[in-house]
Amino acid sequence: DKAGHKHFMAKEIAEQPHVIAEAIRHYLPVEEDTVRLPGEVDFSQVERLTMVACGTAYYACVTAKYWFEQIARLPVEVDIASEFRYREPPIPAKTLALFVSQSGETADTLAALRFCQEKADTILSVVNVPESSIARESDLALPIFAGPEIGVASTKAFTCQLTVLLALALKAACDRGHLSAEEMAEYATAIRGLPNVLSSALEQNEAIRQAAQKVSEARDVLFLGRGLMFPLALEGALKLKEISYIHAEAYASGELKHGPIALIDKNMPVVVLTPKDALFDKSVSNMQEVLARKGKVLMISDQDGINEAGDDVWCAIRMPRVKEALTPILYAIPAQLLAYHTAVAKGTDVDQPRNLAKSVTVE
Ligand code: M6R
Repeated sequence: DKAGHKHFMAKEIAEQPHVIAEAIRHYLPVEEDTVRLPGEVDFSQVERLTMVACGTAYYACVTAKYWFEQIARLPVEVDIASEFRYREPPIPAKTLALFVSQSGETADTLAALRFCQEKADTILSVVNVPESSIARESDLALPIFAGPEIGVASTKAFTCQLTVLLALALKAACDRGHLSAEEMAEYATAIRGLPNVLSSALEQNEAIRQAAQKVSEARDVLFLGRGLMFPLALEGALKLKEISYIHAEAYASGELKHGPIALIDKNMPVVVLTPKDALFDKSVSNMQEVLARKGKVLMISDQDGINEAGDDVWCAIRMPRVKEALTPILYAIPAQLLAYHTAVAKGTDVDQPRNLAKSVTVE
């Protein structure tokens, strides 16, 4: 049942305020300003976190690396499941291994989990299907409460994965003595505000649909982001290519000069994900480099960012302002809507893109 939407993907994008609220209710219950997990995990003795996943779930892990390192001061390694075990990585003592999977059945992720059994101290998973193989074979499974995801392109599972991973990073920060009760309460308040913030991001639907009409004419699209926006750029590019079949690539903005700038001309839309955060000025100078070569900049930022740098851009999409750590969850919405409307403009099969399966159970 598409609940009045044209596609499951549209329905699942629209559901995000609601499903995120559900995840928040479980991990940050209102009466407490601490993170509640469905079982015991103590990060105070953990020396290293290894995260493994595929596709969108992998980009959720790359995002979480920033959180675990910055907020919890925990060294993190992130890997693609299909590469991880063939490399035969050493798993030092006091490693916590974390596997992220919407379906909980992805063959490579499951094989990576089995590789870590007997080696890692603790095996955690972040899953959408609590009775899945990955959930069953881990010491503790953390459900994301996204509800069934039908569209092949992962949307609500991604933002719910991020929400749970952020809660876990905050728990790690508290266990390791890097977060005061006051700071934790500040995060909790900001996270509880997310459903409303996501709803206002969804109000940009029409502006994004218009931008997507133009993007649908492109052959290639570049996505740029710095810091927490870099993994989101990767996710935005994946979403666009899988459902619209437009070639899209993502780079950390700072890498522009090291190669991809050679591609920029008047036919190249460049999506710049840049809230007005500590790295904003650097992103703007990267944006100027694109504009100087007549690249078409699609800027996604907040009002302050757009006021400061939005004059010469091809189009600007305005997001609400949130605490910096929360920006990947918010900016996922325009990235998803851009891919969705571009695919609709091109007339591709949004929910069942060619050559793809919802759950990849072969290696
Ligand atoms: O079920 P999983 O989360 O393990 O699936 C991982 C990937 O196959 C999945 O995220 C894939 O990349 C999606 N089609 C992305 O939209």
